[in-house]
Amino acid sequence: WQLAAAALAVGYLLGSIPFGMIFTRLFGAGDLRKIGSGNIGATNVLRTGRKGLAAATLLCDALKGTLAVLLAAPFGLLPALAAALGAFLGHLFPVWLKFRGGKGVATFLGCLIGLEPLAALAFAVVWLAVAFTTRYSSLAALAAAAAAPVVLFLLGAPATAWLFILLALLLWQRHHENISRLMSGKESRIGGK
Ligand code: G3P
Repeated sequence: WQLAAAALAVGYLLGSIPFGMIFTRLFGAGDLRKIGSGNIGATNVLRTGRKGLAAATLLCDALKGTLAVLLAAPFGLLPALAAALGAFLGHLFPVWLKFRGGKGVATFLGCLIGLEPLAALAFAVVWLAVAFTTRYSSLAALAAAAAAPVVLFLLGAPATAWLFILLALLLWQRHHENISRLMSGKESRIGGK
């Protein structure tokens, strides 16, 4: 339990690094809070028109989750799951941004990469399929997050699946404004104006 608590704390610190905010400030791409959805994630960084910064945000927001899991994994499954939970909560509630963080999509994927690469692959396939057909980043994330626990159960990883049910619920909750916009047809599309 002590190891799990340590993993949770280290995961939180890693997860709380707001790469989207850092990159856009560092490279003069504007204030993310005043652009598009106001979110700190890669989708909103893309709305600044800086594709490279968006890609870097996606990569780093994912890899901080992967790194947290991989650092804890040698100590067992429980510390690894605690690290994933910590990283995800760190991204959603970073102390540095007065706990107003992101929606967790990239970090969710990064944690999956560290814990169950096949489930991460399934997440990516669902995300890409929905994103390519609808061009809604949010809808793609909602579908992929819902699919992940199912795939984890199918892969015989029930403990991980239960954790990802919790993470998916938090991710869905974080997308409540996107869900309202999707239902009223007002959600912005990738590549849209
Ligand atoms: O990664 C978050 C995405 O699902 C939605 O982002 O900026 O459109 O709210 P955004």
